[in-house]
Amino acid sequence: MEKFTQESVIRMTWHTDGLLTFTITRPESFRFSAGQFARLGFRTEQGLIWRAYSVLSSEYEDTLSFMAVLIPNGQMSARFQLMQEGDAILLDKTATGFLLPHRFVGGTDLIMLSTGSGIAPFLSQIGQPETWQRFPRIVLTHCVRYTNELIFNQWMHDLQNHPLVGDYAQNLIYIPITTRDHENEWLHHRLPETLKNGTLQQAAGFSFKKQNSRFMICGNPAMVDDTFSALKSLGFSMHRNKLPGEIIMENGF
Ligand SMILES: Cc1cc2nc3c(=O)[nH]c(=O)nc-3n(C[C@H](O)[C@H](O)[C@H](O)COP(=O)(O)OP(=O)(O)OC[C@H]3O[C@@H](n4cnc5c(N)ncnc54)[C@H](O)[C@@H]3O)c2cc1C
Ligand SMILES: NC(=O)c1ccc[n+]([C@@H]2O[C@H](COP(=O)([O-])OP(=O)(O)OC[C@H]3O[C@@H](n4cnc5c(N)ncnc54)[C@H](OP(=O)(O)O)[C@@H]3O)[C@@H](O)[C@H]2O)c1
Repeated sequence: MEKFTQESVIRMTWHTDGLLTFTITRPESFRFSAGQFARLGFRTEQGLIWRAYSVLSSEYEDTLSFMAVLIPNGQMSARFQLMQEGDAILLDKTATGFLLPHRFVGGTDLIMLSTGSGIAPFLSQIGQPETWQRFPRIVLTHCVRYTNELIFNQWMHDLQNHPLVGDYAQNLIYIPITTRDHENEWLHHRLPETLKNGTLQQAAGFSFKKQNSRFMICGNPAMVDDTFSALKSLGFSMHRNKLPGEIIMENGF
């Protein structure tokens, strides 16, 4: 039996030349936990190509959505560039990943730190009522280069009308950051700097404390390393199942 199914692309939205969100059909048998990634593939003349993509949609949705950042000269990116609604796309039957908030022990504040496409797993989790029941206060940061890459501002704004999590929406603190575009009201330093210089806590409006704060990091691997080091210097530690801590992280590529 094949380890993947063939699905169809239902919807595509181009946000910039290199930033795409798209939705595909979901087989009834496909299960995932919000925060996990799926492997998507295409048939090409050279054979099958596969890459990992974090699921953007929430667990209860009938379809699966994803966000793709297109990389110059990337093989999968070239395929996305050609993709049209109605096209076939391959979906590995198994979703994977450990960026899961319910792994934490204790804590009341969930602080999600992302760059670029690293925001995808967090949006999936924000759409889950269980995340809010577990963490009454959620901070979501999205650090990108330019303002036009903050493609989820409207989604955040509309969250209050969300049928499942609308009542919790007022407990979300959304902090956008643009590092190469300073012509806006957002923060402009990279995440590790905002942690070290205190501007992130200031923007959140409360202090990050070992007893209450739990951090999840996803995105650029260098950012994940540097942000982890910044949190370590503030006294937080990696969470392991046998040694509970405050930080869970995943490289977004
Ligand atoms: C666990 C996991 C989850 C991922 N989730 C996503 C996702 O939700 N959305 C997404 O667009 N990509 C995601 N990726 C990256 C994705 O798998 C591909 O690598 C990416 O789409 C580029 O594929 P490519 O074949 O065009 O280029 P590749 O040859 O695979 O990549 C070329 C180089 O581009 C850089 N790069 C790759 N992905 C990104 C990215 N997303 N943002 C910035 N730089 C990048 C890296 O330096 C990489 O070495 C994920 C990767 C992993 C491991
Ligand atoms: N996103 C798009 O719309 C788009 C469009 C076309 C092409 N691309 C291509 O995709 C690739 C990556 O683009 P991307 O901007 O999405 O991802 P990225 O390079 O990971 O940058 C995203 C954010 O992470 C920050 N960052 C990078 N390294 C960091 C570190 N060590 N510590 C903390 N923060 C760090 C960046 O800050 P700095 O600004 O300071 O680096 C930026 O704010 C590039 O090749 C780009 O040309 C992207």
